[in-house]
Amino acid sequence: MDLHNIREEYTKQQLSKKECLDNPLTQFEKWLNEAIKSDIKEPTAMNLATVNDSGQPSSRIVLLKEVNSQGFIFFTNYLSQKGKNISQNSLVALNFFWQELQRQVRIEGKVKKIPEDQSDEYFSSRPYTSRIGAWASKQSAVISSKKLLLAKAASIAAKYPFYVPRPAHWGGYIVVPSMFEFWQGRPSRLHDRIRYLLDQNGNWYRERLSP
Ligand SMILES: Cc1cc2nc3c(=O)[nH]c(=O)nc-3n(C[C@H](O)[C@H](O)[C@H](O)COP(=O)(O)O)c2cc1C
Repeated sequence: MDLHNIREEYTKQQLSKKECLDNPLTQFEKWLNEAIKSDIKEPTAMNLATVNDSGQPSSRIVLLKEVNSQGFIFFTNYLSQKGKNISQNSLVALNFFWQELQRQVRIEGKVKKIPEDQSDEYFSSRPYTSRIGAWASKQSAVISSKKLLLAKAASIAAKYPFYVPRPAHWGGYIVVPSMFEFWQGRPSRLHDRIRYLLDQNGNWYRERLSP
């Protein structure tokens, strides 16, 4: 398999330190809006990297369900592999890649569970079958067959034909950011990279990184 000649030239846009907004969360929202408007598939899909207590990193895609002045919210099974990693180490990283815009955003921070009433509210907005699925799937556990999973889902649906309560093991996390990097692809691999960090007073400052 020859992969050597697969390469893309990045020419679309540029990014200067000056044009970046003072608050990286606002800058993120600006880029996310542009990604949504440009008809990118799954613009809210983000890679979530966690680390277990042996120092082994792992990553997977999850969907961003809310961004606010505090951080980035996603939903999952608290007993999954990522949930176990988070209970051992709350330091995580997020990565968004919007290929059509030749953009990447990297975020590092600390993750914590959101309040239960917020998880209840989001859970109740999910489609019925997804709510049943949250009960049926012991996410990340080994299962002996798909058939058993479907049978479990059917029995849970019989138990909860209308209202499905949120399982205690399912809910939201918020990633509170301490670092952002906005990457815009540029010609000749001389990409624009603007990083935001927090100073000692908790104010964001930004600097340009070498590509
Ligand atoms: C596009 C896409 C979106 C996904 N969204 C979520 C999500 O929001 N929450 C979630 O728990 N898993 C989501 N998954 C599944 C995860 O990538 C992963 O398989 C699952 O969470 C188990 O991960 P873990 O074993 O590391 O805990 C998504 C997968 C893809 C490809």
